Amino acid sequence: MANSLTKNEYNPTDLKADFIKTYGGTEKDIRIFSSPARINIIGEHIDYNGGKVFPAAINRYLYVAIRKRPDTKICYKSVQFEGTHLFDINDNFTFRKEDDYANYLNGILSQLKAKGYRFNCGFEVLMASNVPAGGGISSSSALECGFAYAVSETFGFNLDRIEIAKLGQMSEHNFMGVNCGIMDQFIISMGKEKKAILLDCNTLEYQYAPLELGDYRFVVMNTNKIRRLADSKYNERREQCEEALKILQDNGTKIDALCQLTPAEWEEKKGCIKDETLLKRAKHCIYENQRVLDAVEALKAGDLAKLGKLLNESHKSLDEDYEVTGIELNTLAGAAQKQEGCLGARMTGAGFGGCAIALVHKDKVDSFIENVQKEYTRTIGYNAGFFSCESGNGVTTC
Ligand code: GLA
Repeated sequence: MANSLTKNEYNPTDLKADFIKTYGGTEKDIRIFSSPARINIIGEHIDYNGGKVFPAAINRYLYVAIRKRPDTKICYKSVQFEGTHLFDINDNFTFRKEDDYANYLNGILSQLKAKGYRFNCGFEVLMASNVPAGGGISSSSALECGFAYAVSETFGFNLDRIEIAKLGQMSEHNFMGVNCGIMDQFIISMGKEKKAILLDCNTLEYQYAPLELGDYRFVVMNTNKIRRLADSKYNERREQCEEALKILQDNGTKIDALCQLTPAEWEEKKGCIKDETLLKRAKHCIYENQRVLDAVEALKAGDLAKLGKLLNESHKSLDEDYEVTGIELNTLAGAAQKQEGCLGARMTGAGFGGCAIALVHKDKVDSFIENVQKEYTRTIGYNAGFFSCESGNGVTTC
């Protein structure tokens, strides 16, 4: 688990000792869980439109150490963030801005309690993370799902991985106020090394696909522009898609999600939508869904050049039609796409900041990073962050 750590990364083998330093006691009864970040290879902003998405868990993890307490108190601390967040298991949890990251944890507790799960005591938690916060590789879902899994295992709730994913999504909807899709929580719960998942978000049917990239690697490029989903235009995009769907349905198109239309069907039906913005939003979704299917085929056929081309097309559509990129992501993707040894690049995740990914030849990764960094700093005025990643495992006991 601690392999290939850079000098700035937290080594999870320190977590038990850090827990004892923080809370006292002995190693006995401390349990440690890990939860990965994710990249979405392709299929952006279509999980909430019944589309197919193609994400992978990556080998950047967040760790949760947990121990039951003899009383009903709850205590959250993080190795990286100052401060202690204190609650009681009998609290009526509600979102409070000042609770900061503790909201993600309380959100999970509130949803568990609403489902009838009972806690016979409190607990203490120490977290450590090698996932950049607010960075578009789903640090928030890593936290939600890692914590949900830790609590479920510690208190004997034995939730399965898909239940963990749904709990994370419910917490986003009901507690955090973000109407996200299921993609992030699903891949973080279900991810497997060397695999990506083709997930049908309409039915939750899924299949693991070998992530065989030969001499190529995914490089994650972080804009270092922090944003929270709720601050962004995320919910607005979702509403626009729902509006477009409603117009199609009212005009006799028998679908219950936008991505049920093929591009050809869309071209035939789109005339009933008069609003330019809604037209662009829906177009992105329908063509992006097709790109996912094409990307999976390209990967199966070992055609990485084709995969790269689809990544570029996806970015263009997210920029021009879905309008969720911005200058930071466009600079990263644009600079990346020009580099020797790069087959393609696109933003990943919700956008509006956060991260992009690029498919880069392993021998060119260093020069790629150097060149893209130069262009980014020149245009944006501060540095981007870069790392090359491998696929990783979903939430698990360490
Ligand atoms: C965020 C959401 C996901 C998904 C992506 C965009 O990461 O949590 O559900 O909608 O944005 O593809």
